[in-house]
Amino acid sequence: MIHFVPPHLEKVRAKLPEIAPTVDVILANLEDAIPADAKGAALAGLVAMSREVDFKALGVGFWTRINCLNSPWHLDEIATIVEKAGDKIDVIMVPKVEGPWDIFYMDQLLASLEAKHGVTRPILLHAILETAEGVMNVEAIAAASPRMQGISLGPADLAASRAMKTTRVGGGHPGYRVIEDPHADGSARVSVQQDLWHYTFAKMVDACAAHGIKPFYGPFGAIDDPVACEQQFRNAFLMGCAGAWSLHPSQIEIAKRVFSPDPAEVAFAKKILEAMPDGTGVAMIDGKMQDDATWKQAKVMVDCARQIAG
Ligand code: GLV
Ligand code: MG
Repeated sequence: MIHFVPPHLEKVRAKLPEIAPTVDVILANLEDAIPADAKGAALAGLVAMSREVDFKALGVGFWTRINCLNSPWHLDEIATIVEKAGDKIDVIMVPKVEGPWDIFYMDQLLASLEAKHGVTRPILLHAILETAEGVMNVEAIAAASPRMQGISLGPADLAASRAMKTTRVGGGHPGYRVIEDPHADGSARVSVQQDLWHYTFAKMVDACAAHGIKPFYGPFGAIDDPVACEQQFRNAFLMGCAGAWSLHPSQIEIAKRVFSPDPAEVAFAKKILEAMPDGTGVAMIDGKMQDDATWKQAKVMVDCARQIAG
């Protein structure tokens, strides 16, 4: 999971040697949630982080989220990051990406700055899908550059961009439901809350899978509702996402639990691989038909479990 930290806060930076080994990625956030008058301090904090913590030695990714490309801050941020931390930063997360042109711009800017500062390992890009236009162009965004590492769904900005009538950072809404038809006997009708994000997930996951990059669920703002957070993360995991963001240390454990396949499902997947060693033909396991397609699903599950086990 990608753990967000506000880099201008010294007390947060002081805890990094303890928190970093428990996550996959530490992300120094420069964008939303950082006050306008603290943007400079956040950038300086990022540079300090790159010197204070040896993320590579800890086996942890070091990412940042810059301010959006029409903000007054992004140019100074990119220039400073490449000059002062270009050999430490793995991925730059770009918010509010609307089309492949935003990625082309980042690609050229990074190429020029990397050449200037002798950074030989290309810095990768991760786009946040959080505008209606971005969702429309997600396939072209995923395909825009070999630097593309992945895409995250940003439900808060996306809700605003679509004029959704919510005031939340991710998750469902009690008003968004499907109701049964009236019962002949007049008894109470059951209604069930639906997933507000299904369409966007599906579109994003397909675009990422087709272009060999990773889809992620983004933020879940109700820190006081770990049950709903877990469900949102689980939907993302089942739909094909590789991970989610954690905004608070309490969400790290939830993400770890959810984004690893269930041991019972892995055991079943191993049975499928063993029953069909060359991946062809048909087999019955516990009353369920298996063929080439279920063999491939089983391989995804077993590979994912192996990768997590290290
Ligand atoms: C994330 O940036 C979001 O807007 O949800
Ligand atoms: Mg956002």
